[in-house]
Amino acid sequence: MAILNILQYPDPRLHKVAEPVRQFDASLKRLIADMADTMYDAPGVGLAATQVDVHLRVLVADISDRHDQLMVFVNPEILEGTGESPLEEGCLSVPGVYERVARFEHIRGRAQDADGKFFDFEAGGLLSVCLQHEMDHLQGRVFVDYLSRLKQSRIAAKLRKLQREAG
Ligand code: NI
Repeated sequence: MAILNILQYPDPRLHKVAEPVRQFDASLKRLIADMADTMYDAPGVGLAATQVDVHLRVLVADISDRHDQLMVFVNPEILEGTGESPLEEGCLSVPGVYERVARFEHIRGRAQDADGKFFDFEAGGLLSVCLQHEMDHLQGRVFVDYLSRLKQSRIAAKLRKLQREAG
């Protein structure tokens, strides 16, 4: 079990674009296990590899109450999105900030599992927003990037101050 360091906004490494996974090997499985440990420890409902400074298209999610339904998405793609979600979202890289940004209510997509096997997925509600949020991370996009410039600079200043205070 390893708890990885989660990059904090406005760390520029959060804006790196992740590469597709091509090797479904032991190191990928270790990364997935460590990301799951890190997400549960935080705790959060989703985590993208970008947030732990690994720039590969991998994300984990678990929206269950008991934190016992881990979902793993490697090389995920959204094929179709419909509707507009009313949900607010937060991010382990942007602690204490909750905002609503434009997200599909329902998505349909395709991904690979830890062994490289393709699967189709459909999601609505919280899972849909979570997956769109995490897939944005893999594109180097943080949800605050959708907010006004003024809000972004306020959030960045607040978090820099918290990071200074934490040493
Ligand atoms: Ni996030």
